[in-house]
Amino acid sequence: MTEKPMLAALAGETLKTPPIWLMRQAGRYLPEYRKLRAETGSFLDLCYNPVKAAEATLQPIHRFAMDAAILFSDILVVPDAMGQKVGFREGEGPVLDAVRDRRAIEALDPEAVVGRLAPVYETVSRVSRELPDTCAMIGFAGAPWTVATYMVEGGTSKDFRSVKALAYGDRDGFSELIDRLVAATIGHLAAQVDAGAEILQIFDTWAGILPEDAFDDWCVEPTRRIVSGLRERNVSVPIIGFPRGVGLSYGRYAEAVGVEGVSLDTSVPLDWAAEHLQSQVTVQGNLDPVLLTVGGAAMDGAIRRIVERLGSGPYIFNLGHGVLPQTPPENVAALVEAVRSC
Ligand code: CP3
Repeated sequence: MTEKPMLAALAGETLKTPPIWLMRQAGRYLPEYRKLRAETGSFLDLCYNPVKAAEATLQPIHRFAMDAAILFSDILVVPDAMGQKVGFREGEGPVLDAVRDRRAIEALDPEAVVGRLAPVYETVSRVSRELPDTCAMIGFAGAPWTVATYMVEGGTSKDFRSVKALAYGDRDGFSELIDRLVAATIGHLAAQVDAGAEILQIFDTWAGILPEDAFDDWCVEPTRRIVSGLRERNVSVPIIGFPRGVGLSYGRYAEAVGVEGVSLDTSVPLDWAAEHLQSQVTVQGNLDPVLLTVGGAAMDGAIRRIVERLGSGPYIFNLGHGVLPQTPPENVAALVEAVRSC
């Protein structure tokens, strides 16, 4: 029996060639994605169409033979399914009816999520049936803090003033929002595993904007509760956490949350990660996505440095954040080739 390289790496094995996949490996940089998207209508229509979402998930697998497929969906399907109005505007990103007070928070229904997101789980099971033998299926969710930033700000933000003001000014109200997100996220992740997901990743994209105490309260603790809630429900698949931008606090996160892997953003120093993180967990990352748009010798040099420093322990190659829409697909092909010949 040959184990999938992603599962071996997350079980703590050091592999000769690191497995590779990329955050946002499906998306606008691929002409076949742009075509599918144009045929389907809105971005959320695509997320809720199992046949087409499965196709989007598989596009980078067919083109690049990645070692993992990540479900084509979004972190904001959870607030959508809890009853908050969510839309995506061309060139602008997500737009939500902002949740700012107790009444709006108490109207959110975590119990509705798994029923309403049935098409997403159907996508997972379709993809699982079609994956090559060595390719692992990744399910995901946003961490409560990051999802809450979009819910409270009403979309993307520059300074996160509204969500921070709510968290600092009405601790009980904000806890209620986070508790509902914890419950919804446990259900959502468990349902993906029931449908065939073999690995879970939890994206905390905006973890790095909080001071230490608030990071512990709103990122570490809720994510720890999600992981332990999943374990209580006998969900035993490996989990990767991505607390983007938290610097030295990656160490505390890895220890406290109980994940098998952490995804490193581009700023994490490699020698520090090798010394302080890789002894506890598998590490994943962290090529600068802009180097992938540039390609050539600059990219190749960076790939070699990363694999040299992290490849002697449990390691998965990835970017430090998602693939940018400007990325030439041929640079992704060159990246995969370079990592596999390291
Ligand atoms: O390939 C994959 O990684 C799987 C699919 C995936 C998407 N979003 C598809 C998507 C995943 C894992 C996500 C996660 C996600 N979504 C995060 C966490 C990771 C990160 O990038 O920080 C966040 C913060 C979101 C919220 C979100 N979704 C934003 C802010 C935007 C607009 C900006 C943008 O990049 O377009 C989206 C839209 C989105 N999510 C697109 C895709 C393919 C583009 C939609 C389109 O086709 O127009």
